[in-house]
Amino acid sequence: MTKNTMNNFRLDGRLAIVTGGSRGIGFGIAKGLGHAGAAVMISARRPDVGQEAVKLLVEEGIDVRGVWGDVADDAHRIDLVDRAMAWKGRIDVLVNNAGTTVRVPSEQCSLADFDRVIEVNVRSVFAMCQLVGRKMLEAGRGSIVNICSLTSEMSRPTIAAYASSKGAVRQLTRTLGIEWAARGVRVNGIGPGYIETDLTGPMLDNPELKGWVDSRIPMKRWGKPEDLAGAAVFLASAASSYLTGQVLYIDGGFLAG
Ligand SMILES: NC(=O)c1ccc[n+]([C@@H]2O[C@H](COP(=O)([O-])OP(=O)(O)OC[C@H]3O[C@@H](n4cnc5c(N)ncnc54)[C@H](OP(=O)(O)O)[C@@H]3O)[C@@H](O)[C@H]2O)c1
Repeated sequence: MTKNTMNNFRLDGRLAIVTGGSRGIGFGIAKGLGHAGAAVMISARRPDVGQEAVKLLVEEGIDVRGVWGDVADDAHRIDLVDRAMAWKGRIDVLVNNAGTTVRVPSEQCSLADFDRVIEVNVRSVFAMCQLVGRKMLEAGRGSIVNICSLTSEMSRPTIAAYASSKGAVRQLTRTLGIEWAARGVRVNGIGPGYIETDLTGPMLDNPELKGWVDSRIPMKRWGKPEDLAGAAVFLASAASSYLTGQVLYIDGGFLAG
C-alpha cells in the first residue's frame, strides 16, 4: 500500500495470468490489467485466436505472452504456471476466467456434458488456485480473481451444469479467501451480468431469451468485456487490500432488482 490512493491501483512490476484471455471477458480483463502496468500471460486452446489477441495487446503497449492448451488438462496448467515463473520469476495475480456451458433441458443433459462443464469451470479453477496459490503463499502475497456469474446466486432453466459450477466457484472463492487470508493471499470473484461475447451469442440470437434479459437489466443494456476491467484491476491491486472472499457482481443492476 502507498499513501497515494490512485497509486494503489497500479500493477507495475506484477505478473498476471488470465486463463481464457484470448477472447471475450478474459481479453477485456487482460487488457485492463496490462493498462494498469502488469505483464500478462494469457492462455486459451486455439493458438491462432490467441496469437491475434497477443498482437492486439502488444499494440496497446502491453508486455504479454500466450500459452496454448486446455485448462482442463493437468499438463497444460503446470506448463502455464512454469512458463509464467520462468518469464518473470513471480505470479502476483491469477484470473480464472476460462469457462464453458451447455444449455439443454436437464432431463436430456448427458452426464458427459455435465462432467465437462464441472471439469472446466470448477476442477480446473481449483487446480489453478492450488498451483498458483502455492507460489503466492510462499511469497506471502497475491490476488486470485475467480470469474463467477449471476448463476452463482440465481438460476434459469436448462443450465443445471453451468449454474452448479458457478455456485461452486463462489463457495470455492469464499473458502480459499478465508483459508489464505492471514497469509497474504486474497481470493475474490467477479460475477459478470449478461455480457456480449461468443458465449452469449446464442442468447443474443434467441429473441425470447434476449427479450427476457433485456427487460430485466436496470441499465437497459448488455455489458461489454471492458465493463469488467475496472473491477479486475481493483481486485488484483493493493486498492482492495482488505477485501477477500467476496464476489463483485458487475451486472448493470440485475441482481438488485
Ligand atoms: N458472457 C457472459 O455474459 C458471462 C456471464 C457470466 C459469466 N461469464 C463467465 O466469464 C468467463 C468468460 O466468458 P466469455 O463470455 O468471455 O466466454 P467466451 O467469449 O466463450 O471466451 C472464452 C475464453 O476462454 C477460452 N476457453 C474456453 N474454454 C477453454 C478451455 N477448456 N481451456 C482453455 N481456454 C478455454 C476461450 O478460448 P479458446 O476457445 O481458444 O479455448 C476464450 O478465450 C466464463 O467463465 C463464463 O462462464 C460470462
